This record gives sequence, C-alpha cells and structure tokens, in this order.
Amino acid sequence: MANSLKIAVIGAGVSGLTAARELQTESHQVVVFEKSHRLGGTWAYDPRTESDPLGTDPNRDVVHGSLYISLTTNLPRHLMSFTDFKFDEKVYDDPRMCPGHEEVLKFLEDFADRFKLSELIRLNTVVRRVEVVVVDSGVTKFVVESETSGVSSVEVFDAVVVCNGHNTQPRLATDIPGIETWSKKQIHSHNYREPESFRDQIVVVIGSGPSATDISREIATVAKEVHVSSRSPDVKVAKSEKFNNMWQHSKINCIKDDNVIFEDGFSLDADIICHCTGYQLHFPFLKTNGIISIQDKRIGPLYKHVFPPQLAPNLSFVGIPEESFTFPIIECQSRWIAQTLSHKVFLPSENEMLLDIERYYEELNEKGVPEHRTHYIGFQTSYIDWMFDQTGMALEKSLKDMFEYFNHCLISAGVDGYVDAFSRKYGSTGSC
Ligand SMILES: Cc1cc2nc3c(=O)[nH]c(=O)nc-3n(C[C@H](O)[C@H](O)[C@H](O)COP(=O)(O)OP(=O)(O)OC[C@H]3O[C@@H](n4cnc5c(N)ncnc54)[C@H](O)[C@@H]3O)c2cc1C
Ligand SMILES: *[C@@H]1O[C@H](CO)[C@@H](O)[C@H](O)[C@H]1NC(C)=O
Repeated sequence: MANSLKIAVIGAGVSGLTAARELQTESHQVVVFEKSHRLGGTWAYDPRTESDPLGTDPNRDVVHGSLYISLTTNLPRHLMSFTDFKFDEKVYDDPRMCPGHEEVLKFLEDFADRFKLSELIRLNTVVRRVEVVVVDSGVTKFVVESETSGVSSVEVFDAVVVCNGHNTQPRLATDIPGIETWSKKQIHSHNYREPESFRDQIVVVIGSGPSATDISREIATVAKEVHVSSRSPDVKVAKSEKFNNMWQHSKINCIKDDNVIFEDGFSLDADIICHCTGYQLHFPFLKTNGIISIQDKRIGPLYKHVFPPQLAPNLSFVGIPEESFTFPIIECQSRWIAQTLSHKVFLPSENEMLLDIERYYEELNEKGVPEHRTHYIGFQTSYIDWMFDQTGMALEKSLKDMFEYFNHCLISAGVDGYVDAFSRKYGSTGSC
C-alpha cells in the first residue's frame, strides 16, 4: 500500500486510543506506546501519590493520574462521546448522567475492544526520546527510543502522534510574594485523592477551576475551615451559602510569617495550602531542535492546536485544547491527522500555516487573553465543525444542537446549575 506509513502514537488515553483508531482506519501501521500497565490514561484511577506533594522535585517518581477517588465527570456523558460510539447510549455500572470515573474507564475499554485497539498497544513501555532526523533526500523521520522493563529499544517511524496528556505536571502559583517562606504543608491537586488528611485543619485552596470547586467542597466536609482564593476579578468575596465553614476570598496578597494575607485584607493562620492551579504542558521526550517551544502553556507554533507547520503532517498533537468538549475534539483532530497523513486531505503551505498562527496570536492579544490560555477554545462548536469539515464530515444536527444547548446552559445557569438545566432537556438519570 503506497500510503501506509509507520506511525508511533505516544500514550493510550482518550487521545492515543482515538488516534490509533483513525490511523488504523486509514491502513497505517500503528504502534501505541503506553508507559502504564493499562490503557485509559487519566481515567485509569491511580491511588498512588508522589513523594513530593507539590510535584516540583524533578527526581520524584511521577504518577500520571490526577483523579481523586470521589470524582464524577463534570460534563454529561452525552458530551464525552464519539460521534459513532456514544457514551449516553451505553451504561456499564453507573447510569448517572455524570458518572464516576470507573464508568468512563469502562467506556474506553469498550471502545478499545470494539475497534480492536489493544493489539496495537505496547503496555509498560515508556517513550524516552522522540528525535527528528533528516535522512537522505531531505525527508524527516522520527527516532523513537522506548524502554520496557529496563530494556531500551530504538526504532524509526515516518510519523509521530503525541498523545501524552497534559494533566500531570503541576503549574503552581509561584508569583505570590513570600510563598517560598511557607513552612507548613502544601499540596497540588495532582496529589489529592481524598479529604481525610484535611480533617480539623484550616485549609487555603487556591484556584477557581473545576478542581478547586470540587476539592474545596469535599474538604469542607471534614476540615475546620476552608478558605478559597481566586485571582479572578469578578469573584464575590463572601461566606459560602452551602457550607458553614467555607469562605471565598480574593487573590492572596502575600504570605508573611506563615500567615496568608488576602487582598480583601483578611489574614489567616492556616495549616495547609492546596494549589488547584492547573497543569503545565510537558513533553520531556521531545527533541525537535527548537522547532517547537513551550512558554507558559503555549506550545508553538501549532496550526489549529495540532500541527507544527515545519514538520506537518508527520508530527502532530492530539488533545491540547482544554476545558472544552474534549472527546469530540480529540475525535475530529485524530481523523484530520489520519486523513492528512494518507493524502486525502491537504494542509496549506508551511508559510500559510505560520501566518494563521500569527493571526491567532494577534487576535488573542487584542482580546487581552493571556498566553497561558492559548489553547482554551471554550464550549463552542466552531472548532469541531471546521475540523470535521476538512475530512468531509458534518457534525450531525442533533449533536450540534446538543453542544449548543450545553453551552447555553453553562452561560445561563452557571457552574452550579448547568447540569440540571441540561438534564431537563436531555437526561433522565441522576445529576453531576
Ligand atoms: C481531575 C480531572 C477531571 C477531568 N474531568 C473531565 C470530565 O469530566 N470530562 C472530560 O471530558 N474531560 C475531563 N478531564 C480531561 C481529561 O484530561 C480528558 O478527558 C482525557 O483524559 C485526556 O486524554 P489524553 O489521552 O489526552 O491524556 P491522558 O488521559 O492523560 O493520557 C495520556 C497517556 O499517555 C501516557 N504517557 C504519557 N507519557 C508517556 C511516555 N513518555 N511514554 C508512554 N506513555 C506515556 C500516560 O500514561 C497516559 O496513559 C479531566 C481531567 C482531570 C485531570
Ligand atoms: C513526511 O513523511 C513522508 C513519508 O516518510 C515524507 O515523504 C515527507 O517528506 C515527510 N514530510 C516532511 C515535511 O518531512
């Protein structure tokens, strides 16, 4: 087969599984490298935590997963579906609209079975190095060095799809004056599993994303006091209506003599700081001679968050966009990559792609979007529509309506009401 390429996929989470499926459909020869003993990535709950609870020690044994034991999805299962393999049409053990994490893992295992992906995966195999090399006639190839039970091997691939996830390497609030003098406990949500170790403590939770919300509420059931700090200017400084022992504060002004001083003037002698401040992008294996760089969660240049123009289509990234319809995004990206590698779909020239990225950066700049939000594309469907369209596919009208309705619920009902609002139209079972 003329167009069949030898392709390495790094990671067997949602992104790697989906990429493998689409590449296989295009008859490429696929090897999926997975460092864990099982597939599922984030959704394969790992009870272990790291020796350094902040995750800053470069010599620590890294635990990939960041799920806490009680985690239920923050999206209805309808939105964690593939267009032809729908989670809302499948129930394993947990019929809730926003099920626990085990249910998502079962869905992914079912997906892997259905599309015979397991045979493509090399488990317990970590990729140590992906290096771009130029072989004769100027063609670029990729050297992939991997390790299984201490044994290294080196292979050459035509293309590499990077699917290693981006919720493992903590991103900390390091710009708080005096934080380096804090002598008491600190933890990043990456290493949070259950609330018991917070019993009777006075806890400061930094952040305003879904993890901060979930974790602060769970800790409040056992802690003495929980004080949430958000840097967002529109946060309402007040006591929680739901919890007697929880307060919302503004940004932390500074830390002095182990006291936390907030911008609202409140000062606190706390026991623990819990950083729910998100993650960094981290590709420790990637050696591209400066073709790709990472700066504060911006990986670039990447055309449509997928292809570095200079190496397109042979190097690609799946699953980089955050806080969005992750599963459908991963599906349309994977399809686009697979069909581009088979020359069914063509990319613009390298220069045009670079210009497109420039324009995108300018647009972000004009809107005042900080660099670290480069890959936040939000809950709208234009990205998914555009990408499916490249492969000659249109998102089913009923699906598109549902995505749009979800976005509407999020805007009109807010974080505490969107699930109920959504389920009034789409769901019968449970709540999130
Ligand atoms: C706390 C939390 C809650 C979330 N909740 C939701 C939700 O409710 N709904 C939703 O849609 N999304 C949610 N997400 C987003 C979630 O990240 C995606 O759903 C999805 O898991 C991303 O899949 P991925 O394959 O890109 O990455 P991952 O799931 O992280 O998978 C990456 C895989 O790559 C492997 N790997 C990494 N490095 C190497 C290497 N060097 N060699 C070999 N293998 C390697 C890892 O072992 C892992 O299996 C949540 C994320 C977190 C952290
Ligand atoms: C991508 O790989 C194919 C197959 O090896 C090769 O023909 C092509 O030149 C490569 N593209 C680039 C930009 O290196």
